[in-house]
Amino acid sequence: ENIPLEMHKVRIVQKLNLPPVEYRKDAMEKAGFNTFMLQNKDVFMDMLTDSGVNAMSDRQQAAMMVADDSYAGSETFTRLQNKVTEIFGMEYFLPAHQGRACENILAEAYVNEGSVIPMNFHFTTPKAHITRLGGRVEELVIEEGLKINSDHPFKGNFDTDRLRKLIEEVGPNNIPFIRLEAGTNLIGGQPFSLENAREVCAIAKEFKIMTVLDASLLQDNLYFIKTREESCKNKSIREITKELSDLMDIIYFSARKLGFARGGGICIRSEEDLKKMRELIPLFEGFLTYGGMSVREMEAIVVGLDETMDMDVISQGPKFIQYMSDELQKHGVPVVTPAGGLGCHINAGEFVSHIPQEEYPAGALAAAIYIAGGIRGMERGTLSEQRNPDGSEQLSEMELVRLAMPRRVFTLSQVKYAIDRIVWLYNNRDLIGGLRFVDEPKTLRFFIGKLEAT
Ligand code: F0G
Repeated sequence: ENIPLEMHKVRIVQKLNLPPVEYRKDAMEKAGFNTFMLQNKDVFMDMLTDSGVNAMSDRQQAAMMVADDSYAGSETFTRLQNKVTEIFGMEYFLPAHQGRACENILAEAYVNEGSVIPMNFHFTTPKAHITRLGGRVEELVIEEGLKINSDHPFKGNFDTDRLRKLIEEVGPNNIPFIRLEAGTNLIGGQPFSLENAREVCAIAKEFKIMTVLDASLLQDNLYFIKTREESCKNKSIREITKELSDLMDIIYFSARKLGFARGGGICIRSEEDLKKMRELIPLFEGFLTYGGMSVREMEAIVVGLDETMDMDVISQGPKFIQYMSDELQKHGVPVVTPAGGLGCHINAGEFVSHIPQEEYPAGALAAAIYIAGGIRGMERGTLSEQRNPDGSEQLSEMELVRLAMPRRVFTLSQVKYAIDRIVWLYNNRDLIGGLRFVDEPKTLRFFIGKLEAT
């Protein structure tokens, strides 16, 4: 058996509750069949997300004790800026309270009515900010990326032929930037290769288009580059990171994921781009030396970024996810393959194939997994899409339930429990029915929408 080993020991614990199944059924109904609306006290394994819930290390906790609290010119900020420059090699850094705040700043600075932003795949929050300003997202992931099952090691790769064609069609002047998403979230935490990033950035350079890396899930992508890309086998994580960064004009990240803390920021190469975005930070985020983050969190990010350069740390997530995906597959449960980063992704389209896409099969399965085991996952399917301008449903390419693996949080026995409950549910899948909205927000509806059984 390919048992993943925890390369850390647990020294602070948090007590968990496992309420009985009748209680869970009630709680799910009260939450409008939306796992975001559950109370954490009612959740046994919180696999909703890896965002802001990763375990901190002893070194991170220690660093938080010596933070420099000042509105302007904080020493803590200088330490963070220096660390970011050391790792990514970019001179400038603008802090923000989290990833979507960076996306807001980028969109405000560069997106206009009619702008087209090519991406390997969209993510909910950047798409919402781009479309809010009249821009449009073009998804150019390789065909293999949209296949639930594949043996392609880099399903997050850009289709470079389609990228070139798109640029020629819409004209480079209408493309403010190309966004590369590391560890492509919505298709199962799938990586792109360093070689593919090189090709994308060469095309961008040819047409003088700016390149932006969303590095929120970079740690997983780095692990996959190191383990799956032949030419990188003998390179250190730091070297791979530097080679990738050297291709980019801008790198932004959610430090709720990258850096094992909470916050975010934008790394910038040129002074010109710095000036375009700088004044938006005090307007939306906070002064230039904290940008909405607490100094303690910034200290934790400094250490967390260093830990991200350590294979023993960044291999944990992908190894546990691989284990969970393999075990589920052994019992016939359909999952995304190859296993990616971020979490184990269950193919709800197949799991509950009797539920039509209009009745949100992935949402229904996420609700059922909570009832069956007190395990909270996240819908990543049609519910997470935004409606088309004419009000029609945008059916998603994939109907997935994501069971995120927050870093350094769960033990192997807890993961085994989750596997057991999901296998049980799979064998009783005809119990699961569809959902419809009773309260549908206009934007990012999946966060707070309420549904009922059809
Ligand atoms: N980019 C990616 C790839 C993300 O996964 C996220 C967040 C963001 C940007 C936005 O960052 O949350 O700090 O504002 N993903 C979370 C998730 C919400 O659960 O997948 P944020």
